[in-house]
Amino acid sequence: MSLLDKHSIIEKNATLLLVGSFLVVTIGGIVEIAPLFYLDNTIEKVEGMRPYSPLELAGRNIYIREGCYLCHSQMIRPFRDEVERYGHFSLAAESMYDHPFQWGSKRTGPDLARVGDRYSNEWHVQHLVDPRSVVPESVMPTYAFLKTTPLEVKDIKYHLEANKMVGVPYTQEMIDNAEADIKAQADPNASTSDLLARYPKAKVGDFDGNPASLTEMDALVAYLQMLGTLVDFSTYDDAAGSR
Ligand code: HEC
Repeated sequence: MSLLDKHSIIEKNATLLLVGSFLVVTIGGIVEIAPLFYLDNTIEKVEGMRPYSPLELAGRNIYIREGCYLCHSQMIRPFRDEVERYGHFSLAAESMYDHPFQWGSKRTGPDLARVGDRYSNEWHVQHLVDPRSVVPESVMPTYAFLKTTPLEVKDIKYHLEANKMVGVPYTQEMIDNAEADIKAQADPNASTSDLLARYPKAKVGDFDGNPASLTEMDALVAYLQMLGTLVDFSTYDDAAGSR
C-alpha cells in the first residue's frame, strides 16, 4: 500500500478528517500569525506623524458622519498615474492614528490623502457650501449647513480618550487641554504656542471665514488642510524606507 492509498483511510473517517484538517489549518495559522508578535513593529515609523489635534479630530468625525468616504478615498497607490496626480503614495504609518481608517474603496471624487495645503481655506468653504460655484461639472452634494452649525466642543475630550483606548498616544495633558485647544486652533487671536507644542504643524487661525464663531466648517476645513502634510516627503528616502 503506497502512502497515497492510505489517504483513503482519512477520507472515509469523518472524525479523523476533521482532526487532520484542524491540524493543518492550525499550523498554517501559526506560521502566518506568530512572527507578527516578534516584530518590533509591523508599521514602519516615519518622522512627523502625530495624533490629530482636537479640532482636526472633530473635523474627521464630521467627515465620517457626512459619509465623505463614500465618494473619496484616502489611499494613494504606488502607481505612476496616481503618484503624478496626487503626490507620494500613502505610507501605512500615515493612517496609524486613524480609527477607523479612511482608505475608502470608491472614488467618485478625487483621492484626498494629500489635499492639505492644495487649496486655500476660502476655496474649501466655497466648495463645500456650493461645489458647482467653483467646479461647474461637480456632482458633489452641498454642505452649506456646516457653516452655520456650531461645533460641539464639550465632548471632545471623550473622543480623545476613546482614541487613547485603542492605542493613539494622547497624553493626559492633551486630554485635559482638549477643549481649550479646540477653541484656540480656530481663533486667530488666541495664543497657540502650547497647542503647537502638543500638535506640531497644526494649521491655526480662522477656517470658515467667520472668526467670531466656531462652526463645524472650521473643524472640517482644519482636518482637510492637514491631510497628508505631516510627513515631509522632500527629505523622505524611498530606497532606505526612512529619512
Ligand atoms: C456624491 C459623491 C461625493 C460626496 C458624498 C462628497 N464628495 Fe467631495 N467631491 C466629489 C466630486 C465628484 C469631486 C470633484 C469635483 C469637485 O471638485 O467638486 C469632489 C471634490 C472634492 C474636493 C476637492 C478635491 C480636489 O483635489 O480637487 C474636496 C476637498 C472634497 N470633495 C471634499 C469632500 C468632503 C469633505 C465631503 C464630505 C463632507 C465630500 N467631499 C463628499 C464627490 C463627492
